[in-house]
Amino acid sequence: MSETVTRREALKLGAAAGVLAGAARRAAAATGPKPIRFGFIGVGGRGTGLLQQALAHEGVEVTAICDINEAHLNRGIDLVRKARGNEPAGHSAGPTDYRRLLTRDDVDAVLIATPMQLHGRMAADSLRAGKHVLSEVAAAVTVDECLDLVRAQKESGRTYMLAENVCYYRANLIVLNMIEQGLFGELTYAECGYVHDCRSLLFNGDGSLTWRGELARQESGNWYPTHSLGPVAQWLGINRGDRLVSLVSRSSPAVGVKDYATKRFGADHPTTKLPWRGDSNTSLLSTERGRVIELRFDTSSARPHPTTTYFTLQGATASYHDREAVPSIWVDGKSKEVAWQSINDYAAEYEHPLWKRWAEEASKTGHG
Ligand SMILES: NC(=O)c1ccc[n+]([C@@H]2O[C@H](COP(=O)([O-])OP(=O)(O)OC[C@H]3O[C@@H](n4cnc5c(N)ncnc54)[C@H](O)[C@@H]3O)[C@@H](O)[C@H]2O)c1
Repeated sequence: MSETVTRREALKLGAAAGVLAGAARRAAAATGPKPIRFGFIGVGGRGTGLLQQALAHEGVEVTAICDINEAHLNRGIDLVRKARGNEPAGHSAGPTDYRRLLTRDDVDAVLIATPMQLHGRMAADSLRAGKHVLSEVAAAVTVDECLDLVRAQKESGRTYMLAENVCYYRANLIVLNMIEQGLFGELTYAECGYVHDCRSLLFNGDGSLTWRGELARQESGNWYPTHSLGPVAQWLGINRGDRLVSLVSRSSPAVGVKDYATKRFGADHPTTKLPWRGDSNTSLLSTERGRVIELRFDTSSARPHPTTTYFTLQGATASYHDREAVPSIWVDGKSKEVAWQSINDYAAEYEHPLWKRWAEEASKTGHG
């Protein structure tokens, strides 16, 4: 494992392995030292990646898989068979067949990686069926679903974890450790964003919309906030001493998706004529303690990859940002000059314990 943090590494080594390990550890605490028996619900792009990571983790067994797409389901079953030799049960009989998986007594926990619009319902059902839940982002898409999810967790007493991998990026963990050790003093302000041209993911080959396309068409605003807000919420102790209380939000005109669809499907294709929502959204959030967060979201504008998340953090005695090739920090009284310094200068002293424990495993997982 490299001793230095580059922006590329900070992005690449986001620890989905850490997320799985975190879930394994929490559920192990609840179920004892035996491996956790996972049921996977949704094994498309992300679910398959997480399945491969789970299979590389000795604390996890995969006993059942559900996907309405039979080709995806069979690919998942095949991966388990090849990696472990067991044949997980397969469920693919329609959009609510996951409930049959939830009746199985050889499933302790589920990993939900279906389209975002389904997470809230599936997670609440899973908790009420007595399963621990590791859910892909976002947790839910309506306030009612969020409230029901909280109720289901409280009623069931089962563990719910949102698989927000960006919280486990190395630089974000170093900053968290520095905050916990008092280097930043009182925190006042943060900026964060998820800015990533995802227009190709909005469409199927025939121009019909994927689940992401449906969200982009229906919702103006920030419908994918957790990759950016997750680490900031950890840094500011949201729901652990502070909480979000209000926001204002504005979206720009929508031109990026229309331009993309015109080039790919032609100006006369029905999908090109859809009333797309704003491309670029900025929200200003306030916390109960008066801190301010600027949160940006744009997956609809033309830009080169890779640009995904970015962060800025201001405290009374330190300042951090990761807009350069190497994330930069300045600590009043500790930095030798009044100038940005590489976070690498602090890595040895402030490496987070989670990174020390899981970095090697995380480095084998590819996409965080
Ligand atoms: N954390 C990350 O870095 C990251 C990266 C990519 C995607 N994601 C999240 O992962 C989730 C999945 O994204 P994806 O890109 O894999 O999408 P995808 O469309 O590739 O996969 C979704 C899968 O769910 C299946 N599915 C749909 N409805 C179902 C149902 N009712 N029951 C069972 N299966 C069903 C689909 O057939 C498909 O295989 C999304 O919530 C997305 O936000 C997270």
